[in-house]
Amino acid sequence: MPTTDRYATSRAMIERARKSLTGGVSSPFRAKFPVPLYFQDAHGPRAIDVDGNEYIDYALAWGPLILGHTHPKLVEAIGRQASRPHCYGAQHELEIAVSEKMCAMVPCAERVEFTSSGSEAVQAVLRLARAYTGRNLILKFEGNYHGWLDSVLLSYRGGAEDLGPIDDLRVHLNSKGQVPNSVENVVVAPWNDLERLKRILDQRGQEIAAVITEPVVCNSGCLMPKPGFLQGLRTLTRECGALLIFDEIITGFRMATGGAQSVFSVTPDLATFGKALGGGLPLSAFAGRAEIMELIVTGGVGYGGTFNGNPLSLAGALATLEELAAHDGAALAHANAMGLAIAKGIAASAAEYGIPAVVNGFGAALSVHFTKLAEVRSYRDYLQSDQQMLARYLRLILDEGIYQLPDGRMYVSAVHTQREVDQTVEAARKVFAEMAA
Ligand SMILES: Cc1ncc(COP(=O)(O)O)c(C=O)c1O
Repeated sequence: MPTTDRYATSRAMIERARKSLTGGVSSPFRAKFPVPLYFQDAHGPRAIDVDGNEYIDYALAWGPLILGHTHPKLVEAIGRQASRPHCYGAQHELEIAVSEKMCAMVPCAERVEFTSSGSEAVQAVLRLARAYTGRNLILKFEGNYHGWLDSVLLSYRGGAEDLGPIDDLRVHLNSKGQVPNSVENVVVAPWNDLERLKRILDQRGQEIAAVITEPVVCNSGCLMPKPGFLQGLRTLTRECGALLIFDEIITGFRMATGGAQSVFSVTPDLATFGKALGGGLPLSAFAGRAEIMELIVTGGVGYGGTFNGNPLSLAGALATLEELAAHDGAALAHANAMGLAIAKGIAASAAEYGIPAVVNGFGAALSVHFTKLAEVRSYRDYLQSDQQMLARYLRLILDEGIYQLPDGRMYVSAVHTQREVDQTVEAARKVFAEMAA
């Protein structure tokens, strides 16, 4: 039936879904898109919704699709594995192949362990850090996301009243139903601010088991670390005997084949990986120094997971890592170059129409901000971005066939090409023209 609503079928489907699937979505984050779309197909960098609209996909399943959709090597690897046993709950060779690859690629990885979600991987490294140091407190940074579980869903979002004064940060809960005393096990610090961190560590450093950080804060506006910040973290954690944990669930196998740690030449004690690691299959991992990692087998640190080391996911991971490692990491170099071209193009188009915008990020992960600030370097800068303008931009650019995350983030894959870059920048120009009118 002809309709003027280009999203009519998606809207009808979510109405139907709401009667059986809570809120109509499998993750509440997905309800935040301007229109929660249903997809019928996707290839490479493009996806087609059930109304037949085609998009350049910059959501990429919230990060995993580093090789785009249905990459032939991945399809072939999963297909081969699909006709073999799906789960052993025991050892098989793919575990060795992928962990060996990770040890070769990632500087901190002397040992690797697989699990299913990023949230689980984070819990494992925090437990390891507490066991290894015999200390309880974890220092996390405001605005950093480390999964949805009680121990870390803290000081991630909230208004200025939650944040408190920058020199006296309060840890605050981010969910109803969260165990209230989660806040007692965590100290929070402003990100990209070594001076303030030093002051906190001078007072409480001896109680802190680990400092955990996203090396680039992709979850709050793709904040890049100031020169020396990550190096400073390394020095300060060593001085007080705390471990340094990089949460590379996003940056790992997206920023570079060795993760952000290889780009910034800072090797943490432990790191977490997920998303791009499986290329779209459910897989995460943690890795780090052997003497710490081995505690989960020999040191009495509790850990488990029925689906850990799942063969189908590991087949996907092996194909993904092989593709990313080929030709000296050309795939990620390309993804990052395409992303930087998009960032430049969007920023220039915004300037052309007098729209105050900043595009942050490292290329394969970007974030569009509407702000009068010259740069967005801290979580508090990020919170100043104009959310209404962003919502309008996202709604308009969706109509132009650009699909990006509801917080303004864009992920770029190894199969986005100059054609996608040009089309995206042109779409942004058109939207800015309308916003400026
Ligand atoms: C940096 C970071 N850590 C942890 C997680 C949690 O991963 P998952 O959603 O797989 O549980 C995410 C998810 O977005 C993340 O971005």
